[in-house]
Amino acid sequence: MRIAMIGSGYVGLVSGACFSEFGHDVVCVDKDAGRIERLKRNEMPIYEPGLDALVAKNAAAGRLSFTTDLAAAVDGADAVFIAVGTPSRRGDGHADLTYVFAAAEEIARALTGYTVVVTKSTVPVGTGRKVAEVIRQTRPDADFDVASNPEFLREGSAIGDFMLPDRVVIGTEGERAKKILSDVYRPLYLIERPIVITAVETAELIKYAANSFLAMKVTFINEVANLCEQVGANVHDVARSIGLDKRIGPKFLHPGPGYGGSCFPKDTLAFVQTAREAGAPQHLIEAVIEVNEARKTEMADRVIAAFDGDVAGKTIAVLGLAFKQNTDDMRDSPSLTVVPALQQAGARIRAYDPAAMTEARKLLTDIDYATGAYEALRGADGAVMLTEWNEFRALDPARMRQLLTGPVFVDLRNVYKPADMTEAGFRYHSIGRPVPGSAG
Ligand code: UDX
Repeated sequence: MRIAMIGSGYVGLVSGACFSEFGHDVVCVDKDAGRIERLKRNEMPIYEPGLDALVAKNAAAGRLSFTTDLAAAVDGADAVFIAVGTPSRRGDGHADLTYVFAAAEEIARALTGYTVVVTKSTVPVGTGRKVAEVIRQTRPDADFDVASNPEFLREGSAIGDFMLPDRVVIGTEGERAKKILSDVYRPLYLIERPIVITAVETAELIKYAANSFLAMKVTFINEVANLCEQVGANVHDVARSIGLDKRIGPKFLHPGPGYGGSCFPKDTLAFVQTAREAGAPQHLIEAVIEVNEARKTEMADRVIAAFDGDVAGKTIAVLGLAFKQNTDDMRDSPSLTVVPALQQAGARIRAYDPAAMTEARKLLTDIDYATGAYEALRGADGAVMLTEWNEFRALDPARMRQLLTGPVFVDLRNVYKPADMTEAGFRYHSIGRPVPGSAG
């Protein structure tokens, strides 16, 4: 199979590299010439474990290449995937489809022979049909079908998710398109991964419904954690026990400072917009968005309360800035709300993140960046854990306590055992669980 991947950002690059690993011939396209040059030198524009090795291997095998020349990549391709960005449009929360339609037009001009044009970016219901219209208007003679093939990969484990997905969703009406996309995903048929073939609109909706449901699950457990704190219950025991019910499932029940990232905030917003316009409002998800936004501010209030209501002039060590571990992504990270709120209240911030400090520098100001976790803690008045990086799990509570001048530790990811932290002399605050012998 010959595949053109339009857009070499997160989804495009990971998908392109994985398709080449399946044995297909893949050309990744991007308008950003600098990015293409760097990719040719095997320099990744994003932090994703294992991606550089996968790209290097398949580029060396001649199955994966990079170009700014969209027409050359589309010429003769069996399938062209659109994986350009779909940011939230300012003001109305709708996904901004400017880049998708611009790509569709350019692809249309370059089509030769029968081609499936597939949207891989997360796009609102109805976009596939509009892409087909754009192509037909630009090139009335084009021989093509459109398809929707949403991506469910998680940052930080994207390659594993792509190679071993829970399911693949393909939305298309064209018989030839079904055949080509089945061939593209043949290696997954062989390992018996479920492949759902459905209508274009259904495939588009599946992606939004999946992310909205997961965001709802996280938000549910966060609210249950609040209740646990009030009644002296343990949220992890609640999560584990409800999760053992197969109808609920164990994942996405870990409480925290609120969800962030490139998908949940954007997709939940687009979902409720589409739903409102279609006259089928999604009240649950509207509430989820509101509760999650409020939670980020509440987290800052919680930190201030842990310092007895006054952080003015205090130095607070912040461990982790990325929206979750194993990524340098800062988009909608809780740190973007919590850190400025603490600064506003007069605190000085000393932060460390294993991967996201370069990104953080662009978005947060007046932060003293440390070279490691212990360095961030040294001499600070107290600490806040914002991202659950594995390397933070291994920190020694006694050593942390020695480095800090004060005893306050607010763990917004429940990384540590409360007993270990109290034993080390901390006033340890965590989410939704009783802390023996401590005010939290
Ligand atoms: C998500 C979806 O999982 C993926 O299928 C989709 O394609 C893109 O969006 P991602 O944004 O990379 O992936 O992160 P994910 O691991 O799903 O976490 C989303 C957010 O929820 C993060 O802020 C994370 O910290 C939070 N979360 C997740 C929790 O707070 N608790 C949990 O139990 C799980």
